[in-house]
Amino acid sequence: MSLKVAIAGVTGAVGQEFLTLLKERNFPATEYKMLASARSAGKNMEFLGKEYTIEELGENSFDGIDIALFSASGTVSKKYGPIAAEAGCVVVDNSSAFRMDPNTPLVVPEINPEAIKTNKGIIANPNCSTIIGIVPVWPLHKTNPVKRMVVSTYQAVSGAGWQAMEELKQQVQEVLDGKEPVPHTFKHSCAFNCFSHDSEIGENGYNVEEMKMLNETRKIFGDNNIQITTTCVRVPVFRTHCESINLQFTNPITPEEVRDILSKAPGVKIVDDRINNHFPMPSEASGQNDILVGRIRQDFSIANNCGINIFVAGDQIRKGAALNAIQIAELLV
Ligand code: A2P
Repeated sequence: MSLKVAIAGVTGAVGQEFLTLLKERNFPATEYKMLASARSAGKNMEFLGKEYTIEELGENSFDGIDIALFSASGTVSKKYGPIAAEAGCVVVDNSSAFRMDPNTPLVVPEINPEAIKTNKGIIANPNCSTIIGIVPVWPLHKTNPVKRMVVSTYQAVSGAGWQAMEELKQQVQEVLDGKEPVPHTFKHSCAFNCFSHDSEIGENGYNVEEMKMLNETRKIFGDNNIQITTTCVRVPVFRTHCESINLQFTNPITPEEVRDILSKAPGVKIVDDRINNHFPMPSEASGQNDILVGRIRQDFSIANNCGINIFVAGDQIRKGAALNAIQIAELLV
């Protein structure tokens, strides 16, 4: 049986991770189409022993394609997502363009795989910080409903693409050379610094990333009652987001119960070695499919043992983006 897959944004950080994962997971595609902007069109690349010429994304790019993996930008998805769906393929879209559209399922395969069935040609992949935070929270929420989540993120620069990683590298060198680093991708220098997330701040004082975490979690959990407050911060890390998550449950819960539930949860790995002070870190989570979870402890400030603190680290290019999208594509075939 033939299965034709197009990758829109193939030269980007997530696009390249799509290729690594498609190969690693033996994705059963019979043919690929590599798409990017006019900047990269015409360049040759090799994938699974075959030569491909990168094509410029256009209105006819999706004729005969079964699945399109999009990771170019929100603007590109808004324009070409519906065109691709109209051409008969199913789009798995990594941008925020359709995430909150009531007609578009927003899917994390470990949480709401059944939502895929409701797709009308586009399935949205959630925001990276949302995915990384909620994969470990979901199995706990199913057992003992979470009433309130307080999340603080420590986000890697690569969430803003390849050029952000290059910028961090360059700025570290500039600082070490005694020069004043010049920011381009972000408003502030990212070397030896951390700053409030670079997305726009709304009238309520929350930035777009923080609001995405709130709205997307409610949509994926199918629970508008869960209370969530977030603070999103960029840190000088190349890859992998960390999150400190404080949870208030409906009923009492112990760290042992949390450990027991998470030890059986898909997509999660416990790294919680108190004796050696060994907990989730970007250096160990990078390149891994699982979200690492540690610092599992009671929050004594919440009455009746209903509070738990955890600290998580997840590769935001993998599970936060490309892997989640490929898992969705795997459910489609
Ligand atoms: P290109 O190589 O042509 O710039 P990142 O998020 O890492 O910066 O990657 C963005 C990806 O999206 C790249 O593959 C980039 O391709 C692609 N892209 C950006 N703008 C467009 C566009 N207008 N049409 C198609 N692809 C685009």
